[in-house]
Amino acid sequence: MEFRTRAIHVGQEPDPTSGAVVPPVQLASTFVLPTADGPADYDYARTGSPTRHAFEAVLASLDGGQRAIAYASGMAATHGVTMLLKPGDHLLTGTDIYGGSWRLFNNVLAEQGISVSAVDTTDLEAIRKAVRPETRMLWIEPIGNPLLSVTDVAGCAAIAREADLLLVADNTLATPVLCRPLELGADIVMHSATKYIGGHSDLLGGVVVARDAEMGQRLHWLQNATGGVMGPLESFLCCRGVKTLELRVLAQSATASRLASWLQEQPQVRRVHYPGLASHPGYETAARQFQGGFGGMVSFEIDGDVAAAQRVVESTKLFQLAVSLGAVESLIELPAVMSHGSYAPEARRAVGISEISDQSEFSKSSD
Ligand SMILES: Cc1ncc(COP(=O)(O)O)c(C=O)c1O
Repeated sequence: MEFRTRAIHVGQEPDPTSGAVVPPVQLASTFVLPTADGPADYDYARTGSPTRHAFEAVLASLDGGQRAIAYASGMAATHGVTMLLKPGDHLLTGTDIYGGSWRLFNNVLAEQGISVSAVDTTDLEAIRKAVRPETRMLWIEPIGNPLLSVTDVAGCAAIAREADLLLVADNTLATPVLCRPLELGADIVMHSATKYIGGHSDLLGGVVVARDAEMGQRLHWLQNATGGVMGPLESFLCCRGVKTLELRVLAQSATASRLASWLQEQPQVRRVHYPGLASHPGYETAARQFQGGFGGMVSFEIDGDVAAAQRVVESTKLFQLAVSLGAVESLIELPAVMSHGSYAPEARRAVGISEISDQSEFSKSSD
């Protein structure tokens, strides 16, 4: 079955008791067991529940992995993956990553004895040099956030294999429609389902897909032991969102691409970051790696001061001033004080997210 057919049918078998075409939301927290000690499909909803399994089945299929595990939020999913690390291990991350991931890595994991360092993951040679004997995991975003840098997933996978590391891709911005990191050699793919998978700004969720069954089982064990599972209603909404994922992502990519070209022509715009523009440094990798488009996010810098930047984000009519990536509606934001406010100021400056006090720069999502 093709991607779009699987998005609609996998995990969505009609309900055997009523014949309902759409599987129901199963709210039960516990399940009757046939015997005290025998096997059962379900026993307790933290360990597994039918609606969550339906979403996990479709995501595992779309990402081409052996097992998907759905979490309460994208950050719970990220944390679930980093629980594979132990004190003394080193985590190598990209510099252009989501602010909340930066905070978890640098402020939470670092305090638990896991060393963390960041490298420009668009530069494979720099990654090679940054790997240490104790490095266990390389964390990348194929499309970075907020500068929309492009990381070569297959190139990173080759390094991960050489150095015996786990390669994890936060694929929230690209979605499995544009890029499937497991097919490019990553070990684990993670999505904030709050964004394009849910697609309507009405749920929080995260999902991780493991390339091999053993890794999937370990991640599930850790999730069951710690408890950050996706709830039944969110699982149902994610199943529904996935059915239109391809249509939405392709339409959003086409609109973002037109918007990026238009912005480039405006005299008040100093720089546009969009992987689909030939002027973008990652354009060639992006054209090879992404299928069907370059994503729904555009970031740009204006030729003006802070007050001018603020006037822009506060005066758009359809684009609403809010963090997140936008869904069927469009959002606009200033990363330095909003989505990336949790970065240390020096880390923000190092990666090129200019401070609100010295330059104006903002990022927008488009539908
Ligand atoms: C790339 C990326 N990863 C992870 C997250 C965290 O997801 P959540 O907000 O669902 O916890 C976000 C949220 O904006 C994100 O943009």
